[in-house]
Amino acid sequence: MKLTDAQRAKVEDLLSRMTLEEKLGQLNQESPSIVGGFDVPFPELIEMVTEGRLSQEEFQKIMDTAQRDYHEEDIRAGRVGSMMGNDPVKANELQHIAVEESRLGIPLIIGFDVIHGLRSVYPIAIAEAGSFDDDLMERTARMAARESRAYGIGWNFAPMLDVARDARWGRVSEGPGEDTRLAERFARAKVRGLQNDRSGPDSYVAACLKHFVGYGACEGGRDYNTVSMAPSQLHSVYLPPFRAAVEEGAATVMAAFNDLNGVPCTLNPYTLRTLLKGDWAFPGFVVSDANAIRECVVHGIAADEAEAGAMALRAGLDMDMGTHIYRDELAAALSAGRISQTEIDDAVRRILSVKVWLGLFAHPYVEEPVIRSYAAGLPEAHRALCREAAEKSLVLLKNAGGLLPLQKERRISLVGALAASDTEVVGAWALGWEKRDCVSILQGLKNAGADVGYYPCGGPEGALDTAEVERACADGDVIVAVVGETAAMSGEASSRAHITLPGRQRELLALLSASGKPVIAVLMNGRPLALGWESEHLDAIVEAWHLGIGMGDAVAAALFGEINPSGRLSSSFPWDDGQEPTYYNHPSTGRPAGKSKFTSKYLDVPAEALYPFGYGLSYTAFAYDGLTVTEREDALEIAVTVRNSGERPGTETVQLYTRDVTASLVRPVKELKDYRRVTLRAGASETVTFRLPKADLGFWNNEGVYVREDGLFQICAGGNSRDTLTEEITVRF
Ligand code: BGC
Repeated sequence: MKLTDAQRAKVEDLLSRMTLEEKLGQLNQESPSIVGGFDVPFPELIEMVTEGRLSQEEFQKIMDTAQRDYHEEDIRAGRVGSMMGNDPVKANELQHIAVEESRLGIPLIIGFDVIHGLRSVYPIAIAEAGSFDDDLMERTARMAARESRAYGIGWNFAPMLDVARDARWGRVSEGPGEDTRLAERFARAKVRGLQNDRSGPDSYVAACLKHFVGYGACEGGRDYNTVSMAPSQLHSVYLPPFRAAVEEGAATVMAAFNDLNGVPCTLNPYTLRTLLKGDWAFPGFVVSDANAIRECVVHGIAADEAEAGAMALRAGLDMDMGTHIYRDELAAALSAGRISQTEIDDAVRRILSVKVWLGLFAHPYVEEPVIRSYAAGLPEAHRALCREAAEKSLVLLKNAGGLLPLQKERRISLVGALAASDTEVVGAWALGWEKRDCVSILQGLKNAGADVGYYPCGGPEGALDTAEVERACADGDVIVAVVGETAAMSGEASSRAHITLPGRQRELLALLSASGKPVIAVLMNGRPLALGWESEHLDAIVEAWHLGIGMGDAVAAALFGEINPSGRLSSSFPWDDGQEPTYYNHPSTGRPAGKSKFTSKYLDVPAEALYPFGYGLSYTAFAYDGLTVTEREDALEIAVTVRNSGERPGTETVQLYTRDVTASLVRPVKELKDYRRVTLRAGASETVTFRLPKADLGFWNNEGVYVREDGLFQICAGGNSRDTLTEEITVRF
């Protein structure tokens, strides 16, 4: 985000004319309050949904007709800087009030959770990162930006960049997985996609990097839980994706809910002022997470709301999401000398700068034809991109005896309640889709001309209909069982202690496989699952995550071999849920798991992942050889030859890892450094060359300093984090 001199002058001019109340108004983000239109109080309604007394669909219907207060009076008085929402007509109405009826005519910045698409929902982030396709990640973000603007949204609360290694945490679905380098590449691609297309006033939005920082390391995978980590780990593992995104020009950042080593991120001067705004020279603004300033009182770090507000502003938090504490308490804090005018002005300046950069002053409204065109239907190019992303994100985990791809003549018994759902395909944090755009797996198979009989039998929730299971087993030549999690089982506040298939789905699979017919499991889920039993008992497993509106067609294309699966896992899958957290790049122990009893392992389950990071099969096979490492002045040149040794064309993700063998701190057993997708026809081979800057072989120590240490390094290349060729080289800096 760079401003011209004229834009900067505009910000300064406004700032010089604002009253204190107007300044504090800019720091205030509102969302429409629900004020009635239903029979029970709102909190009880939420309780009813949580307890399952009211279905999501019924709740949605009530919400659609609920009465809302949009705070028009406050907007008119200049007491609101930002609104949440995704209704273009309402956005225009509110924007008209802000621009034409408030004293200074400052437009609102309208923000919304557009996490993996708005109307055109593409795969959840953990899935899309597994495409290892930076260009795809950028294009989907660009599509999301354009759609957002069409709905009046100028600010997306994305990308979510929390490296996450404990699959019990429900929010693993929202981020790019367990690896820092992949998260950095994802971060850069998303920021470019959201922000860099300036071809028109409606083609870009402000990105919001979240959640800053360490949220993915919440203890035990329990949402909102405490986070403790050494500085070296913070700097080497959790900060780099944010830093990469800031370098790419990200306009805003959201502070995380959690405390980090005892200091809530909402009011953490080290992460916000010293690192982000100081060392990284971040020019944009920082917003709190929802109601998080108030929660600092519950954390026990501030005596009351007024103190929490003053501490947060001083620490560098610019905008208050949802509590009104900044709006109502900061004037008194200023008179009492607990905060300074400079601190307030700095926050306002940052927010105004983003508004100016977004072009909101020149172009605050959504144009009528744009609103109408989306009402008529989804642009075809968006639908096609959603399908492409779904196809590239799907991962083949097991394919015994080459069962897949299926011949269209084979009759399929399609099993599982999830298979026919056209609303579950979108996954967690999908808030703008329309049912008419979504394709279920059943529909996808029908679209592909499959000979299919459908037997719901049961799903992640509820009963198992064994009589129907028998009918399913009697019918098809082959059984495709769609099992996994509902969308509500991942995402915020959706941690699970057990990450095996929920409900009676394993029992369902056992009954199906007892029939003797081949069973293919298509998994639809928002987190890595513990699949020890499934890997041993099923013939084929397709990890299809929540792939978005194009899910059904993409799954059908994969089952019938119209595409060759090329997605890889962005997070390791364990055998058993007791292994969590399971991630490939853990620091070396003094006793790596081995045959001896006194090594780092469990008595009852394996120590290693079942399917490790980077893993994924194809309908063809790839073989590696000829790994060479050549030292150049400031880089290593690494070459490896990959050959398509099977009988179909296919796409492989060639992955480059390193290990620092001896260092002043214990280092990970392997770390991803680079990757490249290579498409090869059967029998063809290609030599892939990576240039790895030597500077990239350093690490952050516990003083927060990036150090490069001479010594021996292993250089590994291969098709996943486990199966690699290895060479060694001594590097001197
Ligand atoms: C979530 C954020 C989200 C915000 C606004 C919070 O509860 O943690 O990720 O952007 O709500 O909806």
